[in-house]
Amino acid sequence: MKILVLNGPNLNMLGIREPEIYGRQTYRDLEEYVDNVCRENDIEYEMFQTNREGELVDKIQQAYGVFDGIVINPAAYTHTSIAILDAVKAVGIPTVEVHLSKVSEREDFRQISYIRLAAAATITGKGFEGYGEAILWLKENC
Ligand code: DQA
Repeated sequence: MKILVLNGPNLNMLGIREPEIYGRQTYRDLEEYVDNVCRENDIEYEMFQTNREGELVDKIQQAYGVFDGIVINPAAYTHTSIAILDAVKAVGIPTVEVHLSKVSEREDFRQISYIRLAAAATITGKGFEGYGEAILWLKENC
């Protein structure tokens, strides 16, 4: 099984950005966490972060025929991007939406999630563990 793990804008700033919300662990720590989960479960993966919406769309399109599942934290694009939603719908790859923070308890503008309309599952508020759960969800369900 091959999983693509995508991360949107400002997630490269983990450890520095709003530590009271996102914690003190860095993006490098997240990469290590995902690497461990995938190794332990015999899963091939690629992990990618970008601050650009179009690059996320490109990565999703390129996943067609290559990856069996996608884990995506679109970050702020969750709340704005119809393009990312359409890309996930276009490729038809089972996709799990992940957020580090408990988005449902945050600002009103974070209550809209476009990606959720195409997501097979959504995991929020569990920090790094949410990525682990998403990867295992895909392993069990795809
Ligand atoms: C986030 C939540 C989003 O609202 C925010 O814009 C992010 C991170 C999360 O992981 O909790 O950048 O996706």
